[in-house]
Parts: sequence; C-alpha cells; structure tokens
Amino acid sequence: MKKATASGGVRVRLTGIRRVFPVLDDAGRAQGGGAAGVVALDGIDLDIAPGAFVALLGPSGCGKSTLLRLVAGLDRADAGAAVVEAEAGTGGAGGERARAPIAYVFQDAHLLPWRSVLENAALPLELAGAPLEERHAAARAALLQVGLDDAGARYPAELSGGMRMRVSLARAMITRPRLLLLDEPFAALDELTRSRLDDQLRALWAELGMTVLFVTHSITEAAYLAERAVVLSPRPARVVADRTLELPDQRTAALRTEPAFAREVRALQEALESGGA
Ligand SMILES: Nc1ncnc2c1ncn2[C@@H]1O[C@H](COP(=O)(O)OP(=O)(O)OP(=O)(O)O)[C@@H](O)[C@H]1O
Ligand SMILES: [Mg+2]
Repeated sequence: MKKATASGGVRVRLTGIRRVFPVLDDAGRAQGGGAAGVVALDGIDLDIAPGAFVALLGPSGCGKSTLLRLVAGLDRADAGAAVVEAEAGTGGAGGERARAPIAYVFQDAHLLPWRSVLENAALPLELAGAPLEERHAAARAALLQVGLDDAGARYPAELSGGMRMRVSLARAMITRPRLLLLDEPFAALDELTRSRLDDQLRALWAELGMTVLFVTHSITEAAYLAERAVVLSPRPARVVADRTLELPDQRTAALRTEPAFAREVRALQEALESGGA
C-alpha cells in the first residue's frame, strides 16, 4: 500500500474549545438564566496535520460526537475556535473533479430507502449538479472500492447492516473529501465485517490522502487504523493522551497479533483508565 501524500488533506486546528449545553426546563427554556449547563467540552486543543489519520477515543457521553460536529461546522463552540484550513496548492490537477472540503459518516447509514444503492452513492454529486453519466460512473467506482460493485441496482431494505454502512462510506468517498469525519461508523457490525471495512478505509485513505478523524469505542480498531490516537476524559472532555502510534504503515491482519500492536493497545487502555473511564 502506498503511503498517503499529505497534499490530499486539510489541517484541522482546535484551540481552547468549550461547549456547554443549556439544561432546559419542561417548557424548553434554559434553566438558571443559561449559566448552568452540561459542560461537554472544556479547553480542547488539537492540531491535526494535513493527511493525518487520527482516532478519537473516550468514554460514552464524554463529548466525541460534539467535537466532530464542531469540526464539521454543524455546531458552534461557546469558546475557542475550530478551524479547518486548506493547504496552499491543494487545488487538484487540471481537469480533476473538484473535491469536497468535508464528508461526514454517521453511526447510522442514513440512506434514502426509495433510492437504489447506486443512486444513494451518487447523491452528493447529484446535489452538486453533476451530469447523470458522470455521477453514475463515479458512484460505480466508489461502490467498487467498498466491494459493492454488484449491488448498485438493489435497495437499502435488501441490504445487510454492513452493506448499508459500505454504501454510506461510498457516498462519503465519492466527493473525494479533504477531511473525512467518521462517528463510530462500524460499531454495530460483526467483527469480521468491521475489520474488512477497516481495511477498505485504510486503503481509501492511502489512495486519497485525506485527513481522517475517526471516533471509535474500540481501542484495537483505533490502534489498527490510526497513525495517532487522542484519548479524551469523561465529560467534560479533556485530552488525557495524545499518542503517535509506533506501528508500520502497512496494516494487515497479522499486525493484530504482534507485540508492538499489543503495546500500543495497552498504552491506550491505560490512558482511558487514567482518565477515569
Ligand atoms: N444537543 C444537545 N443538547 C444537550 N446536551 C447535549 C447535546 N448534545 C450532546 N449533549 C450532551 O453532551 C455530552 C456529550 O455528548 P456526545 O454525544 O458528544 O458524547 P459522545 O462522546 O459522542 O458519546 P457516545 O460515545 O455515547 O456517542 C452528553 O452529556 C450529552 O448528553
Ligand atoms: Mg457519540
């Protein structure tokens, strides 16, 4: 597998991020004049290099999804800044299709049930106004990348959960994003499907060189996929560990049984425990 080139991705910089959710009364009004609230994130600083693959680990409810939404611009911080910045000169070679700044893969596949697999995967290009031939060709290529090239004519209800997630991944990849945000995308899948999708995701990253921010509960998945793992404390989330994983670029099933892998997994486990998880 070829190592990703940094030029395909964007830099993400978080400084002093704080997010407090108001506690609402029965009428939906903020209690305590808005002063009291659920502090989800408090003083998060992170600098993510263009093209990096970063796993975000932390206990349930600590603020991981909140952080991802802030990076995507779907929510706003109460203090601090989340900046997604394009590298100079990442504007693609002449004739190359424009790349989307950000794609987001949610925990559920969120497919449109009345559309075929091909039409679901092609949706972002349709919204961008691409002609039918072009978007169908791109959707077929994206489905091929996730091993679903023979499923284009089927409908979401006919698919397994793993297949639906793969369509969702294809739909995100079709825009060739410079930043890919994934929120526990494979959590509900069986172990075998999950590790297959992990491999496909790593391959896509190596090919496109986008920056990846991957939220997971699984320490082994984080260690297998990422170059760097950031561990958050229970709410309010703070960074309790930030490790560059000392593992080979080539990730294969054999890696999971190697001592270096066990060492990284143990270190991440300890960081989670020291954070009070
Ligand atoms: N829109 C909201 N309004 C009020 N509180 C919220 C909102 N979104 C999140 N929270 C609260 O913020 C905290 C962090 O939530 P978040 O969904 O980011 O956690 P998480 O780390 O993604 O958890 P999980 O691993 O279970 O998905 C939780 O206490 C949650 O209840
Ligand atoms: Mg979440």
